Order: sequence, then C-alpha cells, then structure tokens
Amino acid sequence: MTPALKIVADTVIRNIGQLVTVAQQPIEDASGPLQIIEHAAVAVHNGTIVWIGRDDIHGPELLPDPATGPDGITIIDAQGVVVTPGFVDSHTHLVFAGDRAEEFHQRRAGISYGELLAQGRGILTTMKATREADQEQLISLALQRLRAMSDYGTTTVEIKTGYGLDLETEERCLQIINKLNALEEITPPEYVEVRVVPTFLGAHSIPPEYRDRRSEYVKLVVEKMLPSFVGLARFCDVFCEREAFTLEESHLILERAKELGYLLKVHADQLSPSGGARLAAELGATSADHLDYASDSDLDAMREAGVVATLLPGCSYTLRTPYPAARRFLDHGLHVALATDFNPGTSYCENMQMMLGLAMSSMGMSLEEALTAATINGARALALDDQIGSIEVGKRCELALWSIQNYHEIGYHFGTDLVNSILVRR
Ligand code: NIG
Ligand code: FE
Repeated sequence: MTPALKIVADTVIRNIGQLVTVAQQPIEDASGPLQIIEHAAVAVHNGTIVWIGRDDIHGPELLPDPATGPDGITIIDAQGVVVTPGFVDSHTHLVFAGDRAEEFHQRRAGISYGELLAQGRGILTTMKATREADQEQLISLALQRLRAMSDYGTTTVEIKTGYGLDLETEERCLQIINKLNALEEITPPEYVEVRVVPTFLGAHSIPPEYRDRRSEYVKLVVEKMLPSFVGLARFCDVFCEREAFTLEESHLILERAKELGYLLKVHADQLSPSGGARLAAELGATSADHLDYASDSDLDAMREAGVVATLLPGCSYTLRTPYPAARRFLDHGLHVALATDFNPGTSYCENMQMMLGLAMSSMGMSLEEALTAATINGARALALDDQIGSIEVGKRCELALWSIQNYHEIGYHFGTDLVNSILVRR
C-alpha cells in the first residue's frame, strides 16, 4: 500500500468487520476463495468503487471531488458488520397479478404442476389475472416485491414477462419492468434502489386463443413481438418443455431473437429432458435455467459454450421435486448461479438468503460456492459480471450490509433475515 496515494471519492464505508469481496482477481490483504478483507473500508466515486483495503492509517489519502461542492466525503460507519456484494437474482417472473395458493394446496393432495399446466391452469391462471389488472396495480405489486427483495439483500433483479401472452400485455409488462428501472421517476417512499434487467418471455405458454393453432402464436412471437420489443428487453427466454414450447419452436424463437440482438436464456429440462440445455449451448445462450433433467453431455456442451447453469431451489421446495445436484454442475466445470425464480406457481419467494440456505442444506454446496453463485455468477447469468457481482475497483457500488460479524453465520443461522440493508451508489 502506498501511503502517498491520493484518491478522489464521494463516499467511504469504514469499519467493515469482514469485507467479502468475491473478487475474481487476487487482492492485497484479502484471503480465501471469497477474497475476504478483515476490518476493511471501501471508497466510492460516482457509484464506482475506487479503492478497497484495510481500514487503517496506511490507507490512501481521500480527496473530495471538487465538482460535488463543499460537502466533501460522506463517511458511512458499518459498525463492524459483514459486507458482501448485493445479491444478483438472475431469474424472476416478478410482474403479475393474482395468486395461485389454491393450486399450491391442491398439489399437496397429489396433482402435479405438469398436470395443472396441461389442464390450462398454472401459468394461464396468472395470465388471466395479469391481463385484467391495470398498470397501477401491476406497478404497485411489483414495487412491493422489489422492496421485499432489497430488504433481503438483493441489488439486481432480472424480471421476465410471460403472463401477458399477447402483443399488448407483453408490451405493457415490458414497459412496467423498464419503468421500475427508471429510478428517478419513482419517488419516495416507493423508491427502491434495485437494478432491474428486463427479459421477454412471450414463449412461456400457448395462450388459450391459440390453443388449436399454436404455430400462429409462435409466428406472432417471431414476427411481431420480437421485432417490436427490441430495446425494451435485454434477454429473450423460452420455456422449452413438453407442456410449453417444443425444441423446434424454441429454436425458431431464440434464433430470431439472437439475430435481432437479444441475449438468450432458456428454461431448460425442468420437467422432462426437453433438449433445452443443448439448445442453449448451440445458440450461445448466456444461461440455461432449471436443468433438472439435463444429461452429462448437455452439461459438457454448456461448459464448452460458456453457458451459466442457473439453479432454482425454490422450485424444488414448492413442487417437492429433488433439489438440483449442484455438485454435478460444479464438477462439470460450469459456472453455477442461484436465483429465486420468484413466481406465483413454482417459487413464491423473494428471499435470496433462503436460496443460499437451501443450496447448503439440500444441494451440496459450500457457503463459499453458494455466495459465489448468488453474486458474481448471478451477474454472469446476466452478462453484467464486468459491472456488478463482486466488490472490486471499477465495479459499481451495490452492497449488502449484514447484521452479523462473521459470514460463517450465513446458512447456519437460518429462517431469519440476516441482512440489515443494501447500500447502492449511482
Ligand atoms: O420458472 N417453468 C416455467 N416458468 C416458471 C413458472 C411460472 C409459473 O408457474 O407461473 C418457472 O418455474
Ligand atoms: Fe422461471
């Protein structure tokens, strides 16, 4: 450390008990797979991390930015707690109306999720409620959910459409998702400091009006929806499944999306071996998600193509299916991400801490692997790992401040919220 170093900053977070950086490059004074710095400080300028290190007298000299006027540098005292990167929840279906509690309880009595879908319930129940809801209702529900997510430590949330399933409602939902990101337009107390990443999932289910002419719905997605939504969605996703879209239909949609400049995601091999993981590898998707039925050779193909494997333990919890065997994915050399899959059918949970707990209790992941999966690998699953997901110089300041002094409490002390707040600087 160079004592003479001078750094311009507007915010400094001091007195951090353990800074869990999850850095991808070795950093000075840090140790272990998560690159932890004990008794640390973080300096920030215009939302970018400009310095991290031990909070001692050998740190750099911090200078206020002359452009920000006489207020100088804001000092935040972390009071000795753990600080981690904010969670990156890379798979959610957060914009919808209504609920499916009835189906949840019917499933306890034996009916399966696939059977409900085949009966035109499931996703279509939510589609109906979402089509009927007005813009204000949908925004207010979404904000409540985002608020809950940020309370549990999430700073970035991917949100899929897929409960509109017609041009107008899909567009409305995409506009809402984008509006949630335009933070300056949402005033306190609704204001939530979460980054939102929009995904178009028009291929979530065949809507009832196209039940007997499904190829026309696929045509609508390919020829009308995809071109109209360029710029509104970063990703295009497809539910490639026996009860949803065939491999051929999924291929058609994703190929067109790729030509139009969308990044790709696939709901792959969730309920049966659908070929979705293989398709994700072929088309160079950013992530393939679920993967309960993906084969070893599918996983090899994903690794070769650099596709992130996103595992969603909330679905196993809700559907009472076996938890994803995370070790298998890790042993295949894949980047594994964890996400909530927040949705009213298969995972009605905003809480990423719960996903960490399930990953450690039921998926064979270590704390280090689970935290990596919920932060930097979530960022990889959104192709944003150059900006977020770890605490490193040059990355955005999107942090979770915990109420614990040692990160070993995570997963061990369960069923309670261990995050105090998020800290985001833009
Ligand atoms: O990720 N599998 C498809 N989509 C969601 C469920 C959506 C719903 O049931 O409403 C999922 O599990
Ligand atoms: Fe999903």
